[in-house]
Amino acid sequence: MQRRDVLRLGTLAMLAGPSAFAAVRVERADVIVIGSGGAGMTAAMTAFDAKVKVVVLEKMPITGGNTQLAAGGMNAAETVFQKKRGIPDTVKIMYEDTYKGGKNLAKPDLVEILARNSSSSIDWLTAIGADMSDVGRMGGASVNRTHRPTGGEAVGHHIIHVMRQNAIKRRMDVRTNAKVIKIFETPGGAVSGVLVQNKLGQLYTIEAPTVILASGGFSANLERVAKYRPEYASFSSTNQPGATGDGLDLAAEFGAKLVDMEQIQIHPTQAAGSKILITEAVRGNGAICVNREGKRFMNELTTRDAASAAILKQKGQTAFLVFDETIRRSLKQIEGYFHLELVKSGKSPEELAKAIGVDGGNLAVAIEGYNKFQAAKKDDDFGRPDMPRPVKDPDYHAIEIRPGIHYTMGGVAIDGRTRVLGQDGKPIPGMFAAGEVTGGVHGANRLGGNSISETITFGRIAGRGAAQFAKTGRRV
Ligand code: FAD
Ligand code: FUM
Repeated sequence: MQRRDVLRLGTLAMLAGPSAFAAVRVERADVIVIGSGGAGMTAAMTAFDAKVKVVVLEKMPITGGNTQLAAGGMNAAETVFQKKRGIPDTVKIMYEDTYKGGKNLAKPDLVEILARNSSSSIDWLTAIGADMSDVGRMGGASVNRTHRPTGGEAVGHHIIHVMRQNAIKRRMDVRTNAKVIKIFETPGGAVSGVLVQNKLGQLYTIEAPTVILASGGFSANLERVAKYRPEYASFSSTNQPGATGDGLDLAAEFGAKLVDMEQIQIHPTQAAGSKILITEAVRGNGAICVNREGKRFMNELTTRDAASAAILKQKGQTAFLVFDETIRRSLKQIEGYFHLELVKSGKSPEELAKAIGVDGGNLAVAIEGYNKFQAAKKDDDFGRPDMPRPVKDPDYHAIEIRPGIHYTMGGVAIDGRTRVLGQDGKPIPGMFAAGEVTGGVHGANRLGGNSISETITFGRIAGRGAAQFAKTGRRV
């Protein structure tokens, strides 16, 4: 068959549904998962283990999405790892931190599901071979609840590696360069399959009674970001290039309801002049933040919206993360920033100040003042709630940072069973969604560490629900 015939039949399929495309290539599955990040892979593995035929479709040449970039960790409450350390966390406190951090805009039932299932999501990851045993903290959390691999290694590449190994072991059907460009509908308005484009531009269909949207957010689509928040048009993004929000179009075309679309998160610490995210865990492990005058200007562990706003008010709209050798050794990820030559160093605060072009006297005073607060366990200047280490072990180091577009809180509306809701508020039969493509979990501001938590928890719910729907054909 000529390529033009394939394309023509593809157009027909788009117009008329999967049966019009049957002459070319039609496959069948029970559950189609769109996207191979944390939410997609979790949902796919869960559905696969429920013994249904699953196909994962990933438009990029590699699997993993933004998830493989995730750095600081995954939030969870009442976990075995917290208990071992005597950390007095509860589901209730995680709920309250999350809801308050999102400025009371999130859907309470979704926040409750996130917090209540977070510990079992850590157990699920551990059971598939992940190491989530280190516990630190990110902004807006009342206690240490950010889980990550031993030594503070980045969380994302680790869990995606583990998920890839699991997919191989299970012989799962995971396809890269497979972009979903349409979700088909039965005359009754239920999901009936998808139209897929491969890397040669050829189209094929897969018929299935259920689709799980796990296609991530749209922070790399600056045009779309600017549509909702024109003031962010000139910002750069921390995201992988595939984070364009296709899933929102696929769902909206099907009649899905979108919520909170203008809620777009700016991460306070993207390395200035690059796309590299400097994890919030650097602050969590003890770094302070100073401006171009060498002065502290905020509680470094406040929520991201507040931290970004404070940095954007400083001269040059950038600031410096300042830390020492002890903090460097406490978090493996920091070594990567040295390899990327993002760090400037000095043997004293004055020498560091010279290296980064700030006032040496001010920087020395800022560090000394902070160390006093740290020793007294009370930050009289900015009320920082946790100061795990002083900054006093030479060499002194600094990374220049500025805010960057990081996360889109809005997306498709779902209910507590991850069923996608239509404009009428009723579930669309056969359509499920999990992860950053959804809206409602984080309200107006997501807490660091809550997204990976969301992908695993809601991914598991979506995988279970879709498998059951595919088996029984009933609404679940
Ligand atoms: P993704 O992991 O982005 O996966 C979606 C996939 O769908 C992508 O691979 C995409 O290419 C694919 N896709 C899109 N459209 C289509 C289509 N039409 N057809 C087929 N495939 C498609 N969160 C935390 O909780 N803790 C952290 O430490 C953390 N660190 C972060 C660091 C960085 C640098 C970034 C960018 C984000 C970080 N986040 C963190 C946020 C978190 O990583 C993401 O929000 C989360 O991983 C999203 O997971 P997901 O599965 O929903 O989407
Ligand atoms: O700063 C970070 O490590 C990012 C965390 C997050 O987006 O949750």
